Amino acid sequence: SIVILDFGSQYTQLIARRVREQNVFSVVLPCTASIEEIRSYHPIGIVLSGGPCSVYDADAPPADPAVLALGYPVLGICYGLQYIVHQLGGKVSSASKREYGHAEVNATTDNPLFAGLPATMTAWMSHGDHAEELPPGFRQIAKTSNAVAGIADPDRNIWAVQFHPEVHHTKQGTALLRNFLFGICKATPDWTPEHFIQSTIAAIREKVGESGHAICALSGGVDSSVAAVLVHRAIGDRLTCVFVNNGVLRRNEFFKVQDTMRDKLGLNLVAVDASGRFLAKLAGVTDPETKRKIIGNEFISVFDDEAARILRESAESTEDGEGANVAWLVQGTLYPDVIESSSVKGPSQTIKSHHNVGGLPENMKLKLIEPLRDLFKDEVRRIGRDLQMPEEILQRQPFPGPGLAVRILGEVTPERVSLLQDADDIVVTEIKTAGLYQQIWQSFAVLLPVRSVGVAGDQRTYGYTCAIRAVHSEDGMTADWVPLPYEVLKTISSRISNEVHGITRVVYDITSKPPGTIEWE
Ligand code: XMP
Repeated sequence: SIVILDFGSQYTQLIARRVREQNVFSVVLPCTASIEEIRSYHPIGIVLSGGPCSVYDADAPPADPAVLALGYPVLGICYGLQYIVHQLGGKVSSASKREYGHAEVNATTDNPLFAGLPATMTAWMSHGDHAEELPPGFRQIAKTSNAVAGIADPDRNIWAVQFHPEVHHTKQGTALLRNFLFGICKATPDWTPEHFIQSTIAAIREKVGESGHAICALSGGVDSSVAAVLVHRAIGDRLTCVFVNNGVLRRNEFFKVQDTMRDKLGLNLVAVDASGRFLAKLAGVTDPETKRKIIGNEFISVFDDEAARILRESAESTEDGEGANVAWLVQGTLYPDVIESSSVKGPSQTIKSHHNVGGLPENMKLKLIEPLRDLFKDEVRRIGRDLQMPEEILQRQPFPGPGLAVRILGEVTPERVSLLQDADDIVVTEIKTAGLYQQIWQSFAVLLPVRSVGVAGDQRTYGYTCAIRAVHSEDGMTADWVPLPYEVLKTISSRISNEVHGITRVVYDITSKPPGTIEWE
């Protein structure tokens, strides 16, 4: 694998994805990882990421410079370059002016890093400090008009660039990374979906054994579905999937998900309609965080009951009655969550308490299977496609665990859920008809408790307001509102105000994140 040491750059995960796009496995470790831990991944090369610090900062991350002497090929990027220069006896200094944005880089192409690339290229820069004197043994292999842009010590196999090859603004970035991977590290491109699927299935079989049982909470979304299908391929119907109707799903979703999971994917599925329980608990509650907590807790309680029953039954069906001792819980944890929890950055402030399906029932002592914990979201889709899962699941826009409850401002009542289900259905249908569904991160309707006066025929009406929200995003952390075509907005607006009795006004949300969040609650 390629080990990427993270010095805190916002682009570190992007480096990992770019390497994997070349079918080479990569892992991200904090830059403070020990040499033993780095070695345990059997690296064929090491990448030092960028980072927000200066090498002279008192709080510059304390990475072990021994990584530069392990004999693995090294590629430093941005701060990574400055770290190499500083550690190996060169000099880093603050530039008189910060280089930020596109820059023209002139490179010498007589070396394996820049081989085959044009001598002049556009690259993305973002740095204040720069290399002033190179360490002994290094030579400059690229420059901009202001600064050193690339250095190399071919004898020690250490390479570094000041720009960011991982961002798409650097036109030759992929070619440069390929040179590092295949030219310098001699990587084999064997990190493929087939390889991942085979090795994951084998590992799950080995873990769960011949008689173990597993349970899984399905949401109908991409992650839990792909995780379930992988485990099902490994242990068949010894996996039971639980799908809970929490009363705030979209129109017909409870039935649609059952059809897909049972009929199309052949999963062993238990569908629990607990909508009454959830809606009863939500009655009279208006505070957003309280709503989220109620749904989260109720979900765990329903799932807990079901899981206990399933495991009891599976134990009874095992001859020695030992089935309950071999219980596993499948979770769709992804690699960004794994990196986040081990990162050098401190815990960030809780803006909203997130609820994901499969919150671990604590008293059950289930052991975890997380088949996707090495994957990024786009890789999960690739795996799903290789598993021949339907596109309607793989391309599904994210849907929050607390469902429509965080899109109904104020109290959640059955009447309001039904109104929002109708409006939401129109939004989704029209966005799909316009061919926009897959390009948009999320598009949905929000029901506001604000009422206004309208007119229908000769009658005065007094109904709710519905807000339409559509955003582009890479990962849900930041988002831009989408300028939907007026024609699409017009159709959505006239359909909702004519067809959904109780909603008399439709407005469009033009807030980006930050400062807004994607969901309204
Ligand atoms: P916000 O509203 O925080 O949402 O900007 C960011 C992304 O997260 C989704 N979201 C959730 N997903 N459980 C989830 O699984 C939750 O409790 C939850 N709350 C928000 C939201 O839809 C958006 O994609």
